[in-house]
Amino acid sequence: MDAVEQYDAFFNSFNLVRGPCLGSGAVGEVVLASAKHNSSLKVAVKIVTFETEGCKGDFLSEVGFLRDLRHPRILKMIAFAMDDHQGFMLSTYFKNGTLRDIMSSDHPVEEPRILRHILDVASALQYIHGLHIFHQDVKPRNILLDDQDRAVLADFGIARQASDSSAMVMKWRTTPGYSGPETRKRRPMSPFKLDMYSLGVSMWMLIYRQRSVGIKDLLAFSDQCKDVKEPYRRILRQLLRKNPTKRWSAADLLRFCVWNSLCAPSLMSSH
Ligand SMILES: Nc1ncnc2c1ncn2[C@@H]1O[C@H](COP(=O)(O)OP(=O)(O)O)[C@@H](O)[C@H]1O
Ligand SMILES: [Mg+2]
Repeated sequence: MDAVEQYDAFFNSFNLVRGPCLGSGAVGEVVLASAKHNSSLKVAVKIVTFETEGCKGDFLSEVGFLRDLRHPRILKMIAFAMDDHQGFMLSTYFKNGTLRDIMSSDHPVEEPRILRHILDVASALQYIHGLHIFHQDVKPRNILLDDQDRAVLADFGIARQASDSSAMVMKWRTTPGYSGPETRKRRPMSPFKLDMYSLGVSMWMLIYRQRSVGIKDLLAFSDQCKDVKEPYRRILRQLLRKNPTKRWSAADLLRFCVWNSLCAPSLMSSH
C-alpha cells in the first residue's frame, strides 16, 4: 500500500472525511476531518511522515504522553494509527485555533486575558513537571483555545521525561527565540526552568503582539519590560530571569497569582 492509499485507508477505517489543513510543521500536517454519517462531528488529525527514525520516535513519544496524561489544560488524544511510513493521531478539534491566531486579530488582547491563558498553561506545566516531563516547545502556536476561551497545551512531539525533578539536560531543542540564555553556556540545564522561560517569551509575545522573536525583542527582555503594567511586568520579569535558579517555577507563578487574587486556587494541582 503506498502512502496515499494508506492515507485513505486511515480516514475510511475511522469513518472520516478529510477536510482542510489546519496547520503544518516540519514533518507533517494537521487536518480537519468530519464523521461520514454526521458532518458536524469534527476531529483534528495530525499526520506525521516518518522521514527519519527520529520522526517516528517523536510520534511514538507524543502519542505515549497524550495517552497517559490527564489534565483539563492538556490536549486529549482520541486514537492513533501508524504503519512504517506515517503516523495518524486523532484529537479534539479546536475551532478557535491557537494563541498565535489571536495575535493576528485586529483587537488587542487585554492583559487579564493573556494572564488567564498563561496561567492555564502554567497549570498544565505544573502537572507535567510534577511527573518529571518537560514539554520543550512551549509557544503560542502550540497552545489551543477551547470554546470557553481557556488555553490547552498541545504538541508533545519533543516532550521528554526526566528521571527526577532535579534532572539536568545538555541539549534543548525548542524553537529559536524561545530558549533561555543558559542554553548558550554548554552547561547542564534544568529542562523545567527552560519551559518556564519559553512560557515567559510566549507571554511577552502576546503582550507586545509579536509573532516572532528577533534581536530587538531580546534587548527588550533585558530592558525588563518597562512599559508593561504591574502585576504583568513582575510576572514577565520572573519568568524571563536569566538565572534559572531564581526564575519562577510553574508552582511559584500559580502561588503568586493565588496570593494576589489573580487566579483561582483550583489552578494549583497537588503535584
Ligand atoms: N486539535 C487541534 N485543533 C485545531 N487546530 C489544531 C489542532 N492541533 C493542531 N492544530 C493546528 O495545527 C498546527 C500544528 O499542530 P502541532 O501539533 O503543533 O504540530 P507540529 O508538530 O507540526 O508543530 C497548530 O499550530 C495548530 O494551528
Ligand atoms: Mg507545533
